[in-house]
Amino acid sequence: MVAKLLDGKELSKEIRNKLEQRVKILKEKGIIPKLVVILVGEDEASKVYVRNKHRAAEKVGIKTIDIKFPKNITEKELLLHIKKYNEDNSVHGILVQLPLPKQISEEKITCAIEPEKDVDGFHPVNIGHLFMNNPHSLPCTPHGIMQFFEKYKLPIAGKNVVIVGRSNIVGRPMAAMMLNNDATVTVTHSKTKNLSEFTRQADILIAAVGRASFIKKEDVKPGAVVIDVGMNRNGEGKLVGDVEQKGVAEVASYLTPVPGGVGPMTIAMLMEQTVKFAERSVQ
Ligand code: GUN
Repeated sequence: MVAKLLDGKELSKEIRNKLEQRVKILKEKGIIPKLVVILVGEDEASKVYVRNKHRAAEKVGIKTIDIKFPKNITEKELLLHIKKYNEDNSVHGILVQLPLPKQISEEKITCAIEPEKDVDGFHPVNIGHLFMNNPHSLPCTPHGIMQFFEKYKLPIAGKNVVIVGRSNIVGRPMAAMMLNNDATVTVTHSKTKNLSEFTRQADILIAAVGRASFIKKEDVKPGAVVIDVGMNRNGEGKLVGDVEQKGVAEVASYLTPVPGGVGPMTIAMLMEQTVKFAERSVQ
């Protein structure tokens, strides 16, 4: 079998084009969707993500306010800035790029963003709604992954879904979304024994571990749908996923490439959520 590639570049472009239309309608009503993106420190990967978010927003017609703080900003100061944007009615979405420097509690910052402006869907209130199968705001990476299943009409109900990784950003919300779509879900992690025995049972395998080429051909059930969330630099500085792509493509039925798979979808969902929040503000 040679896997069909799930093209995130193409699908995200399609989504962005539809968003452009929705932004036009909002602008006719005098509303410009506005997203505040806060970056703290000099993390190189975070800088790239933030730049990509800014570019995507510009294309769609969303106004972004990019705010950079030095890595020694205090938690108190950062909280004050968030409060200011929470209270600013012209702002529809607030995002604080993670990870944050050690002196700042990510949990406190995540909890400080108004749930109605939480475009990342990380606030415990929004995570709670998601787990109760009544989502208000969805974490962008797993939400982007769900779009592939919709677009390519890949069935989820009754399937064995195995997720490798239990992060708050991907693994845990991914499990909730798959469960909400009637899958049987297993979440594996660094303490899982005999990991391969689980992954080989997966009709849908989602790799979000952050380890280059960690999932090999022999870990994959023939015909499985494989989603590669990884964005790792290998020894040569090349961007590689969590899946050993060449080998796995020989057994999987569908596979997301890296780059050009999940990454662009994450950004498209961030744009979608910002537009949705702006639309809610006129209702
Ligand atoms: N760091 C890595 N992924 C993300 C994301 O989706 N949102 C935020 N805020 N930070 C991240």
